Amino acid sequence: MTARPAVSTPAATDLFAPEVVADPHPLLARLRRDDPVHWSERHRAWLLTRYDDVLAGFKDPRMSAERVTPARAHPDDDGDGPVDPVAEVLANWMVFKDPPDHPRLRRLVSTAFRPRAIARLEPVIEATVEGLLDDLGAHARSGQAVDLTSTFAGPLPAIVIAHMLGVPEGDQEQFRHWSDELTDLVFGATEVADRRERGQKALRALADYCRGLIESARRHPADNVLGSLVQAHDEGDRLSTEELISTCTLLLFGGHETTRTLIANGVAAALAASWDLAEVMTGPGAATAVEEMLRFEGPAKVEVRHAAAPVEWRGRRIEAGQRVFLAVIAANRDPEQFESPDVLDLRRDPNPHLGFGFGAHFCLGATLARVETRIALRGLLRRYPEISLAQPYGSLPWRPALISRSLLELPVILGSPGPDRHRAVGPQAGGADRWT
Ligand code: HEM
Repeated sequence: MTARPAVSTPAATDLFAPEVVADPHPLLARLRRDDPVHWSERHRAWLLTRYDDVLAGFKDPRMSAERVTPARAHPDDDGDGPVDPVAEVLANWMVFKDPPDHPRLRRLVSTAFRPRAIARLEPVIEATVEGLLDDLGAHARSGQAVDLTSTFAGPLPAIVIAHMLGVPEGDQEQFRHWSDELTDLVFGATEVADRRERGQKALRALADYCRGLIESARRHPADNVLGSLVQAHDEGDRLSTEELISTCTLLLFGGHETTRTLIANGVAAALAASWDLAEVMTGPGAATAVEEMLRFEGPAKVEVRHAAAPVEWRGRRIEAGQRVFLAVIAANRDPEQFESPDVLDLRRDPNPHLGFGFGAHFCLGATLARVETRIALRGLLRRYPEISLAQPYGSLPWRPALISRSLLELPVILGSPGPDRHRAVGPQAGGADRWT
């Protein structure tokens, strides 16, 4: 048993309260100002909201990332639930590992994410973007609202990660479906009643499917991410088959929902703030703009840690074993760090946001996510420079999830297509070549 922390204002810190899901920033700003190391009885976790504290939390080795074990089938569990084999898959996710397992796994998987490997993916990303935009043509002509998340922002990263793992086109739809179910499980989506059962079933099916992919990659070595992971395994006997399976599921999960969310959240915020998004995303400032989208309303809401030992923090005592939420979303709006933090400034530079985390667990897919988002938005805005929100920003539906800040839908009116010279040209453009 650990001592009950002194400060407790449950009503004020319910991250699932509808008004907080709709807009968490007012609550987080209050906490950041008045109670920056705050105990939430509702979440049974400490909430750190200041930039300096969140950064220090990412760096502190006493803040353990190890939060899924066979006895803790879900990152939110307290370890008193039934043992579930699914936990074995999650327990091998490097994001839930501390040294010495974490650096070992990360080193092996990193080889597949070298900048050169990502650069080789660019034609695939461009072709996928153009193909999806072609499919959107009918919606544009009808003038009706279209949901940008299900038609564009969601499919793109799923297709790219499927390509990286060598998933054949015919299995893509199923692959994406598993990823969606898994998202509800890991992100703690409260709106889905049977999310755990469905998520666990999907994870089991996905793990079986990945086992098949791995066996096939061993028989026919391919020049893709899975190929290099399998090679790292076979040459040095360093990644076990179970670790390979876990890593595949982590890459699908880590690469799909987050990138989908960045694209959707970024477009929504920029259109709401009346930026000329077509000018920004087709110009030299596109990469800078993507960083600001990550800061202003990026996918990461909180990163979860457990105190491995008692920690004194701003006069509060965090007991060993207690959960700590590093509130990235609050740190990224800290006025001590960012000028006018509640203003979306697509030209903000420098921009030391924490949207990809920091330190040992810094997002392994950051380069890929940046490239993908930039290419996606450039393609979208070239094709549909007049795109606009189909409903007010304040009424958009947000996912009631603990660790992510993501739009459930983004209805937009695409408007008339831009002039042809804006279209991507070259052999990769067009839906038919998406998989080449
Ligand atoms: C906009 C998109 C993305 C965002 C906002 C994002 C965010 C993050 C964050 C905040 C972490 C740190 C978690 C922690 O400290 O506990 C992380 C880790 C990770 N991300 Fe991403 N991510 C994105 C895209 C991707 C993509 C495309 C991939 C791969 C395909 C990926 C793979 C990973 C992996 C493997 C880790 C674990 C790294 C480790 O534990 O060492 N992410 N991501």
